[in-house]
Amino acid sequence: MDNILLAALLFLIPILMFLKGTKKTSYSLSSTTTTVPPGSMGIPIIGQSLGLLRAMRANTAEQWIQERVNKYGPISKLNLFGKPTVFMYGPAANKFIFTSNMVANEPSKSTRMILGDRNLLMLKGEEHKRLRGAILPFLKTESLKRYVGKMDEEVKMHLDMYWHGKQEVKVMPLMKTLTFDIICSLLLGVERGKLRYELLECFEPMMEGMLSIPINLPFTRYNRSLKESSKIQKLLKQIVQKKQNELIKNQNNTSFEQDLITSLLGMKVEEGKQVMNEKEIIQNIMLLMVAGHDTSAVLLTFLVRLLANEPDIYASLLQEQEEIAETKLPGESLTWEDLTKMKYTWRVAYETLRLFPPVFGNFRMAARDIEYEGYLIPKGWQIFWVSAMTHMDNNIFPEASNIDPNRFENQSSIPPYSFIAFGGGQRLCPGIEFAKIETLVAIHYLVTRFTWKLLCADNFFKRDPMPVPTQGLPIQISPRKVYEKSL
Ligand code: HEM
Ligand SMILES: *[C@@H]1O[C@H](CO)[C@@H](O)[C@H](O)[C@H]1NC(C)=O
Ligand SMILES: *[C@@H]1O[C@H](CO)[C@@H](O)[C@H](O)[C@H]1NC(C)=O
Ligand SMILES: *[C@@H]1O[C@H](CO)[C@@H](O)[C@H](O)[C@H]1NC(C)=O
Ligand SMILES: *[C@@H]1O[C@H](CO)[C@@H](O)[C@H](O)[C@H]1NC(C)=O
Repeated sequence: MDNILLAALLFLIPILMFLKGTKKTSYSLSSTTTTVPPGSMGIPIIGQSLGLLRAMRANTAEQWIQERVNKYGPISKLNLFGKPTVFMYGPAANKFIFTSNMVANEPSKSTRMILGDRNLLMLKGEEHKRLRGAILPFLKTESLKRYVGKMDEEVKMHLDMYWHGKQEVKVMPLMKTLTFDIICSLLLGVERGKLRYELLECFEPMMEGMLSIPINLPFTRYNRSLKESSKIQKLLKQIVQKKQNELIKNQNNTSFEQDLITSLLGMKVEEGKQVMNEKEIIQNIMLLMVAGHDTSAVLLTFLVRLLANEPDIYASLLQEQEEIAETKLPGESLTWEDLTKMKYTWRVAYETLRLFPPVFGNFRMAARDIEYEGYLIPKGWQIFWVSAMTHMDNNIFPEASNIDPNRFENQSSIPPYSFIAFGGGQRLCPGIEFAKIETLVAIHYLVTRFTWKLLCADNFFKRDPMPVPTQGLPIQISPRKVYEKSL
């Protein structure tokens, strides 16, 4: 894989050098400083990209970053994925990156071409606010409360199909299946069957191309991704049109509404313009599926791993879940009230996210020349944030490498912009509540129905770019009690 990337980069160098030569970069004179942060840009174009990617695969990216900090201090320049970049860290830097209007979101060309240009990720300012305003109500607790029963149903069906009667399972691929099924059910209102399967088939190859270099030749990952993306958009279009017809048949009465698509279609027309048009609905649904599927699967996978490695935490979590299970009749679904009692379990999830954040870091772009801490960040440069830097800071999280869920007992004791597994500011992950509900429901049934043991002794994971344990975390499972299948 590194070799392909290297070959592609070498192939690109002459082209990019040529393009660069024709475009003069000029630093505006409005700022009082012209000193860019210290650091080396590495070899042209490639810069430090391969070094970082290699470190991520070897799971040494934290050390790689730490070495930079030791060498250059808390703010430094480097060259990542063909662009000059400033890396900075700490709660103040995070706050600046997440909230300053001088800092813009600038997804890569591959991401833009694959996901389209009318979704939350791509839009800025007022348009971004309008779409968030349309989508967020559906993802808020008040509205998700009604869907706990549906999540419960999906989790039980998943366990019946893929876990019961098995001695060994691979956790990571199964968690991806589960989170995909939950998203299909709640956001798309697409039930199990051929259509869901078709969507799933397109999704993995589409996501593989999001970090690829945008070279559109028949054998590239990027080309495959574009193909899958247009297939998915066609399928989503059919779904949206079907929901639209159902809505009209029901006299535009959305109170029967079950899924996000229907609720977006039914939203009141503002000032003669629909809140979201069909293209925007399709692209944003696609984004939510991408953003909410692997991230939650990584959290669930690392929870299973952490519980296997930490008997004390496992015992406390199991006790909390058993107390809830004891109040239920056989086959009875979890309710919102049950979830509010799972306080310890959610703290364990937070600690898992702190230690194994699914999103290692991300990029922004300087929307204009920025003066920060006495340095100039020229317009157009990338800004790189990394979650591990504050997550593993002993001054913020005492004895940061120790696993201690109770550090999240009092949320207000955590300084703002320090726990950034969900990002922050205007682009704070809107899926937190969704992820919380699916995680709690899934963990409830896993720990009350099964015990497990890790089968891979190495305890290793790589970042690709999301954390992936060796062989997808194979485990040995045994049923705890004789449970009747819920179907
Ligand atoms: C444990 C699970 C999850 C984690 C760790 C996570 C993490 C993140 C992070 C770090 C960001 C911010 C990226 C940035 O600022 O550069 C983000 C944004 C986003 N997430 Fe999540 N996420 C999770 C689950 C979900 C779910 C379940 C959904 C949808 C149902 C979702 C939808 C989104 C969307 C749409 C954005 C972009 C928001 C915007 O740009 O305004 N996420 N997520
Ligand atoms: C993939 O590459 C081929 C050959 O260059 C091209 O004809 C085709 O349009 C590409 N596919 C997409 C979806 O862009
Ligand atoms: C329902 O909404 C559609 C499009 O918004 C509109 O054309 C139609 O007249 C509405 N039907 C009723 C019965 O209100
Ligand atoms: C909308 O549908 C719900 C549930 O089917 C029903 O109770 C309600 O009376 C309907 N409202 C209108 C205005 O038709
Ligand atoms: C939580 O932490 C804050 C800030 O450190 C502190 O002021 C507050 O008293 C703590 N609350 C509890 C219940 O411990």
